Amino acid sequence: MDNNLLLEKLDSLSMEEKIGQLVQLTGDFFEGDMDTVVTGPLKKLGLNTGYNVYNTGSILNVTDPDKMIRLQTDYLEKSTHKIPLLFMADIIYGYRTIFPIPLAQACSWNYEQIERAASIAARECYDEGIHVTFSPMVDIVRDPRWGRVMESPGEDTLLAQKYAESTVLGIQGGNLESAPGAIPAHKIAACVKHFAAYGAPVAGREYNAVDMSEHMLREYYLPGYNAAIAAGAKLVMTAFNTLNGVPATGNEWLNRDVLRREMNFDGVLISDYAAIEELIMHGYAENEAAAARLALLAGVDVDMKTAVYANQLAKVISGDEHMLGLLNEAVYRVLKLKNDLGLFEDPFRGLQETLQRQKSSVLSDEHKQNALSLAEESVVLLKNDNELLPFSKQAKVALIGPYAEENSTLGIWAIKGDEADTVNLKTGMLKYIDPDHLSVCRGAYMLPLDERQALGKYADKLPGETVAEEDLLHEALRNAGEVDVIVLALGESIYQSGEGGSRTNPTLPEPQLKLLHELSLLGKKLVVIVYSGRPLILTEVAGKADAIIQAWYPGTMGGEALANILYGKTNPSGKLAMTFPRSVGQIPVYYNELNTGRPNMPENGSYRFASRYIDEVNKPLYPFGYGKSYTSFEYSLLSVSRKEIKANEPIDICISVTNTGIYDGKETVQLYIRDKSASVARPVMVLKDFKKIFLRSDETETVQFTIRDEMLKFYGSRMEYKSEPGEFEVYIGASSQEILLSFSFVLLPEGEHE
Ligand code: GLC
Repeated sequence: MDNNLLLEKLDSLSMEEKIGQLVQLTGDFFEGDMDTVVTGPLKKLGLNTGYNVYNTGSILNVTDPDKMIRLQTDYLEKSTHKIPLLFMADIIYGYRTIFPIPLAQACSWNYEQIERAASIAARECYDEGIHVTFSPMVDIVRDPRWGRVMESPGEDTLLAQKYAESTVLGIQGGNLESAPGAIPAHKIAACVKHFAAYGAPVAGREYNAVDMSEHMLREYYLPGYNAAIAAGAKLVMTAFNTLNGVPATGNEWLNRDVLRREMNFDGVLISDYAAIEELIMHGYAENEAAAARLALLAGVDVDMKTAVYANQLAKVISGDEHMLGLLNEAVYRVLKLKNDLGLFEDPFRGLQETLQRQKSSVLSDEHKQNALSLAEESVVLLKNDNELLPFSKQAKVALIGPYAEENSTLGIWAIKGDEADTVNLKTGMLKYIDPDHLSVCRGAYMLPLDERQALGKYADKLPGETVAEEDLLHEALRNAGEVDVIVLALGESIYQSGEGGSRTNPTLPEPQLKLLHELSLLGKKLVVIVYSGRPLILTEVAGKADAIIQAWYPGTMGGEALANILYGKTNPSGKLAMTFPRSVGQIPVYYNELNTGRPNMPENGSYRFASRYIDEVNKPLYPFGYGKSYTSFEYSLLSVSRKEIKANEPIDICISVTNTGIYDGKETVQLYIRDKSASVARPVMVLKDFKKIFLRSDETETVQFTIRDEMLKFYGSRMEYKSEPGEFEVYIGASSQEILLSFSFVLLPEGEHE
């Protein structure tokens, strides 16, 4: 629709119709006769009885195509303005074809694959009628106690920026010259979240306060959102948390000064679930009317699933031209989003086409192949003593553990994923070995029975434990006694991860640690595969296992991906996007820390007055950027174009990487920079670039990097964003702690010549 017509449409709306466009409800408000709705969901939400559901602007998490057609048809018949509904849903890492969780994808360092995964999720959504997905989530996370780390790109800002850009482009496609702003067929609208810094709650406790300097916010936490917006994200979602005392959903500085003016965001800002009403619980709004006013002033366009905007906005706005102007702006943004999606021309956006074709793209072989490839690249080989892996197909294997043949490996945010579609580990392994070479048993409970209740509504979703624990253990010991090697498939339940899943002690559940201990006494070769939505404390596992594979929640094709790695069809190439602590007391521990005035140097020994613990080392168990391969790589520095630069002068670097092992493999060459001294203390290293390359055995490749001034910039104490003259160190390596090449250079002050 032409923009002028859109503005005319806006002007034609009554106050109730305008406010309705800013309300998001769930499907139950449109099921059954009006009396049922009024006495049911409408009353439960506290909506005034006069509220007309056929003014509502959007629907949350209705994902059944037939239901969407029914709802949209009914709505358009009964609404006065005939503006189509928007259907929005949480399709975070796949619709029916489920990819690895985002934290796992981040370990692939393969952004072409990540973009393809997002594109496939968008296509399946498009075919099934969804218009908007609440993805990507780009909250930086340095604390594995927080459950939603599974949904994040990890601890690093550059990886968050890459993930944001790739995912938005995969979901929405790039901007069309021929139709600026329009979202093409097979694409849907992306909503980047949660603005801002939701991933830094105090003590890793869900929904807790976030408090950080503006320097920390701008340096580490905001760039990921900014990258999503620069890539064209049509929506942003507010965060539940307070930021420095002000709830994000009512934070005018954050949402108008930073998001709209600095980041130049002109799309739709939607609250998180009930977050506008929660301004009252935060102690920030004294009542609903105040909450409505504060949220609109803070630029929040859509009220997700509360009655605040619906009940209060008309009163809050009446007679106030400024507030009326803000309302019109908000409604215009919602109408523009619907127009960019082409809903005025086709409210079903191709859904009928799918139904007529009777062919949706969900779970197509191509989609599953992509999910397999990304799962293979997301898995991280953490340990492989004496090259125990890959297995020979002749090896007799005892597959033991709660994850041995568990299909619930999709993670908690796969709302349309069907576990029946999953290839589990046992199924994957049987593609390689005869059944008489593989014994399979559970060995232990997923969780202690008394811990299940802590999972609330999810407790009943866990598989029933019908066999006595000691019988499970005896079967495991018997099976183990008959084989050459044990594969122990362990992990936290998916319900211990995700929203509301903060843990004070992020380790493997106690029954599984007991099973690990008992099996380790047999002296057999032991491979542990870890399923988790976060970095777990694996120190005990590392002391007992010969090999460790971090599987994360690998999605629909996870079992096949893991089997391909176990038997060497695929050489693992994953590199950690988040640090694995050695102990919970180290949390938060991350690679880009400051040096402090008393760094704990190796030569310090147990010198007391250094930045250290008396009961633990400083270093994590597995550092950021770490991941092993079945092969080995050798780096040599070929050339550096200059070691003194003036402002904006690039440095070209050439290194040579050789695959010195017998397996072909992929290596992610990482480039870190350290600013040795500046007007604010700078981290001991910051990831500034990387290259993932494939090398056949004995093959050598030249890898090039260019250091640009943008890589040297940072936020100073007065938030000025610039580079400063001085000495810099460049570290090139296979992880943040495997630095294989380094050199230093000087950025000369302005005017000083070489
Ligand atoms: C949830 C999450 C958010 C999600 C929204 C809609 O509470 O915080 O990420 O998109 O509600 O389900």
